[in-house]
Amino acid sequence: MRRPLIAANWKMNHLLADSISFFKLLNKKVNDYLLVDVAVCPQATLLRQTRESAIERILIGGQNCHHEPSGAYTGEISAAMLKDAGAQIVILGHSERRRLFSETNEDVNKKVIICCEEGVHPILCIGESQAQRDKGLTFNVLQEQLKKCLMELPIEEAHKVTIAYEPIWAISGGDATKKSATPEDAQEAHNFIRRELSKIFTHDIAQKIRILYGGSMKPENVEALIRMPDLDGGLVGGASLDPGKFLEIIAKTHQYYSSL
Ligand code: PGA
Repeated sequence: MRRPLIAANWKMNHLLADSISFFKLLNKKVNDYLLVDVAVCPQATLLRQTRESAIERILIGGQNCHHEPSGAYTGEISAAMLKDAGAQIVILGHSERRRLFSETNEDVNKKVIICCEEGVHPILCIGESQAQRDKGLTFNVLQEQLKKCLMELPIEEAHKVTIAYEPIWAISGGDATKKSATPEDAQEAHNFIRRELSKIFTHDIAQKIRILYGGSMKPENVEALIRMPDLDGGLVGGASLDPGKFLEIIAKTHQYYSSL
């Protein structure tokens, strides 16, 4: 059985003081939920501090990375720098980066490869827009993103990758009333993703890769989502900013897994 992972994507939110109080609460309670792996991805300026504040079992991650190892790339951060700052994982190819900063599947592919080489394990984000879904293109989009973003990744590196299915139309953008995908729609997409991963790698590898759901996961809907057989946790944006809500998502995931 795959261990679930609940990962926080803080996006461009939280200052040092917020982060310190967040970990005061998270550290105290998170070991009550040992069946769940936990990660927090803050802005790069907070990486070192979050690694030092968080207890060891909480993974710390970046939100982006440049594909070159070093050089004249003002404002960019390399995989080695992420690692040096304490990151063990990194979110790559988030739809906000694709949409607002013109990242292509080819760019994301190079980032996935260098991060795996450097030992910073990627959470690769894929997902369709509302317009693509309306046109019945969801599976085509997911298939193309997976194929292109994982191209030429050596098969020995596949175990380092986590996939996050993030339907763009369900991402909250800070709107707590936004609806997530239904558990059934999420399961359909996750199952498709796993079958594609079997083709790209092998059946056994695909069975081991975690596929997270991202798009308005919150305490109110996590119980229904987490029951889906191909859904192995969440990449949580808005609801991860509040340590109480984030812990509730972790607690409900733990509760479900302890009932299995
Ligand atoms: P959300 O964000 O939980 O606020 O929808 C998820 C994400 O974009 O990673």
